[in-house]
Parts: sequence; structure tokens; C-alpha cells
Amino acid sequence: MIVGVPREIYPKERRVALIPAVVANLKKAGLEVCVEAGAGLAAGFPDKEYEEKGAKIIAERAEVFRAADMIVQFLCHGANDKNGGADLPLLRKGQALVGFLRPLGDVKTLEEVAACGVMSFAVELMPRTTRAQSMDALSSMATICGYKAVLVAAETLPRMFPMLTTAAGTIAPARVLIIGAGVAGLQAIATARRLGAVASAYDMRPASKEQVESLGGRFVELPIEAKDAQDARGYGKAQDESFYAKQRELLGNVIAESNVVITAAVIPGKKSPVLVTKEMVARMAPGSVIVDLAAERGGNCELTKPDEITLEHNVTIIGEYNLAGTVPYHASQMYAKNVTAFLLHLVKDGKLQLNLQDEIIRETLVTRDGEVVSARVREFFGLPAPVGKA
Ligand SMILES: NC(=O)c1ccc[n+]([C@@H]2O[C@H](COP(=O)([O-])OP(=O)(O)OC[C@H]3O[C@@H](n4cnc5c(N)ncnc54)[C@H](O)[C@@H]3O)[C@@H](O)[C@H]2O)c1
Repeated sequence: MIVGVPREIYPKERRVALIPAVVANLKKAGLEVCVEAGAGLAAGFPDKEYEEKGAKIIAERAEVFRAADMIVQFLCHGANDKNGGADLPLLRKGQALVGFLRPLGDVKTLEEVAACGVMSFAVELMPRTTRAQSMDALSSMATICGYKAVLVAAETLPRMFPMLTTAAGTIAPARVLIIGAGVAGLQAIATARRLGAVASAYDMRPASKEQVESLGGRFVELPIEAKDAQDARGYGKAQDESFYAKQRELLGNVIAESNVVITAAVIPGKKSPVLVTKEMVARMAPGSVIVDLAAERGGNCELTKPDEITLEHNVTIIGEYNLAGTVPYHASQMYAKNVTAFLLHLVKDGKLQLNLQDEIIRETLVTRDGEVVSARVREFFGLPAPVGKA
């Protein structure tokens, strides 16, 4: 089997789906790797390094799609909402496609992928089990986003992060508040602490208290309790508007006292809850910074502008989408490891084994034989049962 790695075409995207270091592992499992020329360069992986590890470099993009039995990408059509559709004519029946597909985004893009006849696997649907942990690309990207959010905030804030005692007086440490202590939020706490800030965090899942505290963060306790804060998959569950209203009321003072607020409270497939209103922004000290990691899904801050940096009430609000893409070397390294683990799971004796008894394969499979076959996706979009056998 041949695994093809095309260059990412999303504007300014610098990541690459597989890096030279994973080629040997794939070859051992009977998989050949071909890479579009220059695909890894912007992430720090020149063609020469792929060749040294035994991958083949192919000059023409269309030829990569023609040669490969399996295409591995970061942003496939759907997740790439700018120009991802350009790849559709290059896909062919029976080919496998692995990558971010935004399976709970727009059913139309999924149907377009299905119409190409490909067997597509969305990394976003990876189950949250111990067995699938090494394949969890969402967690990898969230780790990078949490780290980078703090660096971007530190760069923007007109203050330093650590406490300093100098001949010119004592500098108070920056106060960083993180809302939503999932993978990204926890990495943000750890990074803020490393830079010397005082970090506190709030999450509606009571289980996160211990994790926040183990990283040296203070857990903000609010006198409200979420109903079933977590679903069976380990994701936060949407709450009703009265819960969010109460949260906003209680969070107001904590936010006003913070120099930096990093919001990372997302609910899969849903618009993000607004937890920071414009009134709350107005109460923050001039120069404060908000980094809204939920921007792509509407944002946790009412004033966030999608994929923009704006100044409102003298507070900088950063709503940039692709923070993980700004660390392309390690984002590619982590993703390549995740995807390789997945491919090795999917392929036995050099052949793709579509074992639908296997939870990892069944849950991530989105399209097959011209149809959207994922039960979770069909249920989400209210589609009737698939016609085919999958
Ligand atoms: N393989 C695994 O076992 C695995 C993999 C990844 C994550 N996890 C765990 O799953 C949990 C969630 O992590 P995630 O990064 O996927 O989360 P996520 O990206 O889905 O959501 C971010 C966080 O926002 C919180 N949130 C949502 N709405 C909120 C609100 N209104 N107010 C406050 N907080 C709100 C959620 O509780 C969650 O912690 C973590 O405990 C993480 O360690 C487990």
C-alpha cells in the first residue's frame, strides 16, 4: 500500500501530515510513503530528509493522489473551508483519506467527500479511550494551542509575567485566568506558571479541580453545579442558557481582576457558550488581553471577531484560529505520530482491514461507498440510516 502526503493548501498553512521520522515505522508495516515535493519544508522537514528515510518525493500534486492508496492530510475538504474542495477531483473511488474533516461542521462537505467514493476517516472522531490516546490528534493540537495562547498573550500584554524584585521596585506577577480546563486549558496553566504568572482556572467539570491544582493553578470555585457536565466520551456537555447566565454573573469579578483571560470552553459540534460579555470586557484594566481559543466556534467572548485581533475597551481580543499551525514543526511531529499510530492500527499485513467491530475504526470512519456512514454524524445531522451495508 502507498500512503500519499500532499502539501497542505489552506492559505498560510505550514504543517505537514507525516514527517520523515515516521517513515521507517510505516515501511516496517509494509506501507510505502510518497510525499509531494516541498510538503514539509515550511514545517522544517526538507524533501531530502524524507528521501533519506526511504520516502519517495513526487513533484506533481495530482500524481501523489494518483499513486496513493491512502491520502493523509491535516486539513481535508471541510476542515479546509477555504480551498479544500480543490482536492475533490483528485480523490478516487476506493481510496482512503485520513485527516481533519470537521465531521460535525457542514454535512454538505461530507457528502461531497462521500461522492468521491473515498473511505474517509476523521481524526476528530477518535474515541477518548486509553487505547486511542496515541492517535488523539485533537489533544495534540489542543496542547499546542494552550501553550501558544499564553505566549501570544505575554507578547501582547504591556506587563511582564513573573514577579520580580529589583532595585527599581517590586513587579507584581501577571494574573492569568483560564476558562475551560480541558487539554488546551491545562497546557495554558502550565505555560503561564512556567512564565511566572499567577494562574487560576475555572471549569464546569468538578473533576478538573484536581488537575488544575496539580499544575500549580488555583481553581476558581463557583457556587453553581452543571448538570451532567461531561458526556460518555469525556467531552463537556452543553448547558441551558440560565446556567451560562449564572456563570457570567459569577465570573464577572474574577475576570475584572485578571490581566489575561484565556478561554477554551468548547462543546463539540455546538456554538461555544458566551462566558465573557462586553460589559465584562469593559470592566477589565486597560491593556488586558483575552485569547479566545473557542473563536472558530463563535467564541467564548461576546466581542471576539473570527480570526482577528481587535481592541475593544482598551482590551486586546485575540480570536486567531490556527494557533497550532503557528508551531508547525511540533504540530507536524505530534500529528504524524498520531496518524502513524492510526495507520498501523488500520493496516494489517500491508492491507487496509476495515474491521467495523473495532471501536477506533468504526467511530472514525465517516464516508464509504458514496455515503456518509458514521452513526454519530448521521445522528448529529438527523439523517436517516444509511442505504448501504456499512
Ligand atoms: N484519551 C483520553 O482519555 C482523553 C483524551 C483527551 C482529553 N481527555 C480529557 O477530557 C477532558 C476534556 O478535555 P478537552 O480538552 O477535550 O475538552 P474540550 O476541548 O472538549 O473542552 C474544553 C473544556 O471546556 C470545558 N467547558 C465547556 N463548557 C464550559 C462552561 N460553560 N464553563 C466552564 N467550562 C466549560 C469543558 O468541561 C472542557 O474541560 C479533560 O479532562 C481531558 O483530560 C481524555
